[in-house]
Amino acid sequence: MSQKATFEFEGKKIEFSVLKGSEKELAIDIGQLRTSTQGVTTIDPGFKNTGSCQSAITFLDGEHGILRYRGYDIEELAERANFLEVAYLLIFGDLPTRDQLQNFLNDIKQYSIVADDMKKILDGFPQSAHPMGILSSLTSALIAFNPTSVDVESEEEMYQAIVKIMGKFPVLTAWSFRKIAGLPLDYGDNKLDYIDNFLKMLLQMPNQSKYESNPIVKSAIVKLLILHADHEQNCSTSTVRLVGSSHAGLYASISAGISALWGPLHGGANQAVIEMLESIKRDGGDTKKYMARAKDKNDPFRLMGFGHRVYKNFDPRARIIKRAADEVLGNLGIQDPVLDIAKGLEYEALNDPYFVERKLYPNVDFYSGIIYRALGIPVPMFTPMFALGRLPGWIAQWREMRRRKEPIGRPRQLYIGKTDRSFVDIDNR
Ligand code: ACO
Repeated sequence: MSQKATFEFEGKKIEFSVLKGSEKELAIDIGQLRTSTQGVTTIDPGFKNTGSCQSAITFLDGEHGILRYRGYDIEELAERANFLEVAYLLIFGDLPTRDQLQNFLNDIKQYSIVADDMKKILDGFPQSAHPMGILSSLTSALIAFNPTSVDVESEEEMYQAIVKIMGKFPVLTAWSFRKIAGLPLDYGDNKLDYIDNFLKMLLQMPNQSKYESNPIVKSAIVKLLILHADHEQNCSTSTVRLVGSSHAGLYASISAGISALWGPLHGGANQAVIEMLESIKRDGGDTKKYMARAKDKNDPFRLMGFGHRVYKNFDPRARIIKRAADEVLGNLGIQDPVLDIAKGLEYEALNDPYFVERKLYPNVDFYSGIIYRALGIPVPMFTPMFALGRLPGWIAQWREMRRRKEPIGRPRQLYIGKTDRSFVDIDNR
């Protein structure tokens, strides 16, 4: 017999069904609440207790530090898979066969050309623009160059839309940086794989005849992209789903997701962390001073890269990234004093009652900037790199939301403003 939850309000008992997920998580289905109570609603700012959907894409257990894409452990995927395999897995549900993967790559390459007129839009941005702003705008502009709406009932049309954005997005990501760096735009080279092609478009200098792929750099980038590829109903993914729920198209939804990701409390944290570590270094490296500031409720300073809405034990991605940071810096022969500051801060925080009581641990972004910088990725590109990694997750979630025919997202509120009053003429106010 299915479990029920009983809720009592004004003497009346109401029973709600309790849903059980495949990992035995329970959720009370309050779908009948307003009907049964004549209009009473729930309130949960930040959705700390509210599930917005049922999803079969990513499983996350924040208490035990577990993260799985479609059932596969993140650590195993980061060690053994390549980025497009993970993208395929997230979007279509299973790991691809060799043929499926090759076809996916070929289809993506076929659509990787971005209309030359897009450069005119790019030209309008000042060099001071942040690449995330440019990337969000260019992704939105793609709609104008691909105006036909996608019939989501048609697997073929859905697939075409997916491979188009997977093909064009690395170009737009690289171009967002080339613009602010004052470098010529590169359309890439179809002979290269997805990652090498992106790195070439991003990093090749005009006076270099050939882009030389560095296996250490490439394997670290692949790992980082996989670790960022999906994270269930986070801020940017929820934005993609919410925008998509109005039946706005895939590109419009992803453009909105990019804007949500940009904020320093979300994906923008990777840039904020490196800026924070640099400023601690410039200030003499006194980590205790910054620990005290982070704990002072009158000081707006927060330890960037620390804390997470759902991880209350550790962020498994942070553990993998910390190990990778040591490996990458070691393999490239780089000594970065900022890594020592980061480790010092982490050590102090893990032993400080303020952080221990609040279950604040390093998150995915704490060490990622250190690796990106060692790999030669410019600081303003840290968050666009996150977006490139997150793209398959956004696509998978948008596709699932449309295929499940989810209703338009439209939360309720509790009104706390003025009650009914009469208009006062301007001369009498
Ligand atoms: N430094 C100092 N104190 C913190 C920090 C921090 N980084 N994070 C949380 N706290 C404190 C809060 O002040 C609060 O204390 P209180 O209970 O005394 O009021 C308590 O811990 C709980 O924090 P909330 O802000 O309520 O937690 P929430 O789940 O709403 O926020 C968030 C999570 C946004 C990630 C937060 O921890 C934060 O701002 N971290 C820094 C930014 C960051 O690294 N973001 C990246 C997250 S990972 C990602 O999105 C990819």
